[in-house]
Amino acid sequence: MKLNSATSIYFSPTGTTKKVISSILKGMCISSNTTIDMTKPSIRNDLSPAIEGDIVIIGVPVYEEKIPEMLHEFLVSLEGNGKPVVLIAVYGNFGEGIALNELNDIAKNSGFSVVAAASFIGEHSFSTREVPVQEGRPDYYDLSIAESFGRSILEKMKKVENPNNMILKIPEGKLPLMAKILPKNSARIFTKTPVADMNICNHCGVCVKLCPMNIIEKDTLKIDNNKCIRCFCCVKRCPKSARKIIYRPKFIVSKMLAEKNKIKKTPRIFI
Ligand SMILES: Cc1cc2nc3c(=O)[nH]c(=O)nc-3n(C[C@H](O)[C@H](O)[C@H](O)COP(=O)(O)O)c2cc1C
Ligand code: SF4
Ligand code: SF4
Repeated sequence: MKLNSATSIYFSPTGTTKKVISSILKGMCISSNTTIDMTKPSIRNDLSPAIEGDIVIIGVPVYEEKIPEMLHEFLVSLEGNGKPVVLIAVYGNFGEGIALNELNDIAKNSGFSVVAAASFIGEHSFSTREVPVQEGRPDYYDLSIAESFGRSILEKMKKVENPNNMILKIPEGKLPLMAKILPKNSARIFTKTPVADMNICNHCGVCVKLCPMNIIEKDTLKIDNNKCIRCFCCVKRCPKSARKIIYRPKFIVSKMLAEKNKIKKTPRIFI
């Protein structure tokens, strides 16, 4: 089976998942790629989009050791029609939990043929200059693994006539105790709403445009805290650094993040 075209479907508020997918596509030597960027609320509202191309890549960041909850409805609406799919989970060096298993179940139920999967590490969304967590990842090494993964997929697919006959084994992940006992959206407990400092902000509107939940009020720049998922896209993409990530309680959250940053985890590939 030849791979000339692809559709990449991803959610990536701080850009790490998008970077990994770009490198995989580069390795696969795909000449034509259609993007379905689930980060944009308007895209997620359009259920069951048409999926073109010879192969599909679905990439999500890991939130609370799972697939981000707000993606479920859109992901289950996808129609695979037997197309080969590559599944990607990108996590911030804490744990990848059961994200790949959840993606695998959704993809199979939607009629995709899962041909490869992988988890990669990205700079943690809560990482700051003072408390860095895998700062700069995916780094050069991660992206070269992603590219070589893309080349392996290309080689594998050359030998495949019917992807529907393929079986890929993804080991069962585990949910740590913390993920089981903490309430949903626990990031809202451990961090404050990233309000804009109006002495620094120049009203450029970037945060309003990019917020994946569309909850930043255009004129006042206030955030609807009940709907904020703490993805911190509005902090990291603000050209004036007018918004900040503030932990609560500062000491405990900083200590926990620093602890999780000590051992550098590495990508896992299933092909
Ligand atoms: C609400 C939230 C929950 C997160 N939960 C986890 C987690 O359980 N394990 C982990 O290792 N990283 C976790 N992260 C970090 C992200 O998975 C990581 O930073 C990822 O690279 C972000 O992807 P993006 O840059 O494509 O948005 C979480 C991030 C957010 C915003
Ligand atoms: S991105 Fe930053 S500078 Fe621009 S409107 Fe938002 S807070 Fe203000
Ligand atoms: S307001 Fe909340 S959901 Fe929107 S970009 Fe900022 S952190 Fe993310």
